[in-house]
Amino acid sequence: RNPLRMYHDNIVEHYENPRNVGTLDKKKDTVGTGLVGAPACGDVMKLQIEVDDDGVITDTKFKTFGCGSAIASSSVATEWIKGKTVEEVLAIKNTDIAAHLKLPPVKLHCSMLAEDAIHAAVFDYKQKQDAAKEKAQAQA
Ligand code: FES
Ligand code: FES
Repeated sequence: RNPLRMYHDNIVEHYENPRNVGTLDKKKDTVGTGLVGAPACGDVMKLQIEVDDDGVITDTKFKTFGCGSAIASSSVATEWIKGKTVEEVLAIKNTDIAAHLKLPPVKLHCSMLAEDAIHAAVFDYKQKQDAAKEKAQAQA
């Protein structure tokens, strides 16, 4: 069996044409940044979300320093979270991403990085919103 055929087309497609690569302005209150690492291999993923007043993710960017499966996982994650609310995206499971990309079992942790990054980005966004609210109350 040709080892190059081992990976499903979706992985190759997302690896060669990753969607939403880049950065958003992390200083903005409406931007949440998640930075996570995979202890198993040392790979790192940064995923950012821009959220509107209704809690809907209007934009998202990622930068992944890692293997092809991690890059493909972050690319899929950004496709799936755009247009959803910050609550909805918490339901996205790494196993869904892995199944979509048909990741082999040894690459499951790469998709875990994407799930962790989504959660970290939402957490950061919520913290910023809370801080902004407190500031507004203090000034009122
Ligand atoms: Fe892009 Fe499925 S091929 S999300
Ligand atoms: Fe570690 Fe893929 S091998 S993220």
